Amino acid sequence: MSDTLSIRDNRTGKEYEVDIVDGNISASHLRQIKVNEGDFGMMSYDPGYLNTASCTSRITDLHGSQGILRYRGYPIEQLAEKSTFLDVVYLLFNGELPNASESASWEERITHHTMLHEKTKRLMGGFNYDAHPMGVFISTVAALSTFYPDAKEVESKEARMLQACRLIGKTPTIASYAYRNSRGLPYIYPDNELSYTGNFLNMMYRMVEPRYQADPVLERALDVLFILHADHEQNCSTSAMRNIASSKADPFVSVAGAAAALYGPSHGGANEAVLNMLREIGTKDNVADYVKRCKSGEIRLMGFGHRVYKNYDPRARIVKQIADEVFEVTGRNPLIDVAMELERIALEDDYFVKRNLYPNVDFYSGLIYEAMGFPMEAFTVLFAIPRTAGWLAQWMELMEDPEFRITRPRQNYQGFGERHVPDDYRS
Ligand code: CMC
Repeated sequence: MSDTLSIRDNRTGKEYEVDIVDGNISASHLRQIKVNEGDFGMMSYDPGYLNTASCTSRITDLHGSQGILRYRGYPIEQLAEKSTFLDVVYLLFNGELPNASESASWEERITHHTMLHEKTKRLMGGFNYDAHPMGVFISTVAALSTFYPDAKEVESKEARMLQACRLIGKTPTIASYAYRNSRGLPYIYPDNELSYTGNFLNMMYRMVEPRYQADPVLERALDVLFILHADHEQNCSTSAMRNIASSKADPFVSVAGAAAALYGPSHGGANEAVLNMLREIGTKDNVADYVKRCKSGEIRLMGFGHRVYKNYDPRARIVKQIADEVFEVTGRNPLIDVAMELERIALEDDYFVKRNLYPNVDFYSGLIYEAMGFPMEAFTVLFAIPRTAGWLAQWMELMEDPEFRITRPRQNYQGFGERHVPDDYRS
């Protein structure tokens, strides 16, 4: 048995043998398949990248049909139970979990970067009070590029790690300043005595009290939600990150571009869309009618379905458990009953069963965020903060990849052949 694939071109009767490496063939090998010598050669055609591996990665392992998700080999369930978000960031960046002293110095290194340049505050103050937090987040992350000229040093491993630590440290500060700007509240500076999520909640919610202490259950719940959102292999925003960074753009503008890709309702914007949907449905009695509209193709059930999971999203299972713990502290979000009824009806319905449509990570997360006091428009920012870790880990991997190339897909051109501009085309 040889690790090759034999291809017979029935147009010409010619046979080709291409290597199979790690179970895949290289699309470039198809180029030798031609009818005439002058032809460009065959390409693989894959709109939406349904079956295209765009890179080799060693970060996140996902088995969609079995509902398995692992970071660097560790199951997401174990990381959610035993680890912290910052340790998971260390794992994503370095490949191994930190020991106790590595964990402590890592936390110190990240918290060293939580402050924003004072001019960033002025920049953020320029946005309207009703600016969408994702627009503010994306713009401010991009603007950080102008404060750090060394961000251009993308060829240096040390410089890459420095920018990555800056971004991990600063994204919660940006998110909380955006929120406080929208409410006309004074900005709260980071408090490095607090945990990563404890500090974030402090910057969000502290009013006149000398010290804000978040409820430990909520602090931990947010930390676990951050772990669950940290990476998800080559999704739309991560592919955007790799695409942008492949031109050697700096990581601040690349992360801003990735966050823009996350913003859409088919991706990270779904958590906001789910809450809008649950509000529109209103009560359990309206669920059946809503499901009918989904089945007729009029609307989509937000928070349901996934390109790669054709089983229950393992993150959604954990999010559902967290919801119970959070509601014990905050009180029950009444929309949870609508969500559970929606899940029950959908999972029994042939339409959803046949298409393998299950709740994804966004289905229950918005209910938790709302119970914690986050405004709905900020939900996608709560996805962007932890996903910044994944984007950066993937960027660092890309920059060290021996197969590094600028991304430049081909197209299947089916437009006009050459034609001529008439002299009187305006008449
Ligand atoms: N509600 C109703 N029908 C759906 C849904 C849905 N949420 N998702 C897919 N379908 C149907 C779709 O109409 C199609 O049916 P048919 O074969 O009859 O035409 C079939 O299922 C396959 O859909 P698709 O559009 O080819 O699937 P996709 O892999 O291109 O899309 C998706 C994946 C996530 C964009 C889609 O499931 C969706 O729009 N879901 C709602 C938005 C959402 O929750 N997004 C968050 C994803 S998880 C967080 C993240 O990682 O970003």
